[in-house]
Amino acid sequence: MKILLIGANGTIGKILEPDLAKNHEIISAGRNSGDFRIDLSDSNSIEKLFKEIKNIDACICVAGDCYTGDLLSLDEEKINIGIKNKLLGQINLVLIGQKYLNDNGSFTLTSGKMGDKPVTNNTAKAIVNGGINSFVLSASLELERGIRINAISPGKVSDIPFDVLINAYSKSINEPINGEIIKVNY
Ligand SMILES: NC(=O)c1ccc[n+]([C@@H]2O[C@H](COP(=O)([O-])OP(=O)(O)OC[C@H]3O[C@@H](n4cnc5c(N)ncnc54)[C@H](OP(=O)(O)O)[C@@H]3O)[C@@H](O)[C@H]2O)c1
Repeated sequence: MKILLIGANGTIGKILEPDLAKNHEIISAGRNSGDFRIDLSDSNSIEKLFKEIKNIDACICVAGDCYTGDLLSLDEEKINIGIKNKLLGQINLVLIGQKYLNDNGSFTLTSGKMGDKPVTNNTAKAIVNGGINSFVLSASLELERGIRINAISPGKVSDIPFDVLINAYSKSINEPINGEIIKVNY
């Protein structure tokens, strides 16, 4: 499979890439690193990337910033960091990428445990992660040409054994599942 891995240089990306590379061709992308540059907060940058890279079978996104801080410190500007980068960024990745992905391809987005098991100081992440999961549930009903979409919702990655995290992403790209929120380490 030819896999576009966005955020390959991050904590999760660095765990996934070496394992995926054993069996697949990996095209890495990031804001400042990887084979290609992409800024998820800029839809032109997303379109440019898909035009440059042809014949993608699986698009995995493990990227997107979000604000961490208590409710009193939260304001529209801080919420918008996660909305623009992690939520709308991944949504736009699918809205644009659906035109370019190969038949029977797959999108795998990343949300996070804070969406349905919030802890204090993480309201911005809760909003964004919940939005990603809802988008995946709904978009999975309408994607065409056999294209599937799932979200991985991890708990704190440093608490997750590498193989458990890798298996969650592998399941999304390899198994015929669609519209699943795969919860890891809840
Ligand atoms: N780590 C955890 O415990 C955990 C738990 C649950 C959910 N998550 C979620 O999983 C995702 C990845 O987490 P992580 O810990 O691996 O993050 P990370 O270490 O901060 O790495 C994020 C990666 O994404 C890229 N990136 C950031 N913003 C981008 C943008 N606007 N456009 C394109 N690329 C961008 C960065 O690229 P450059 O390096 O090139 O700048 C970086 O490689 C995040 O959405 C995070 O919220 C993480």
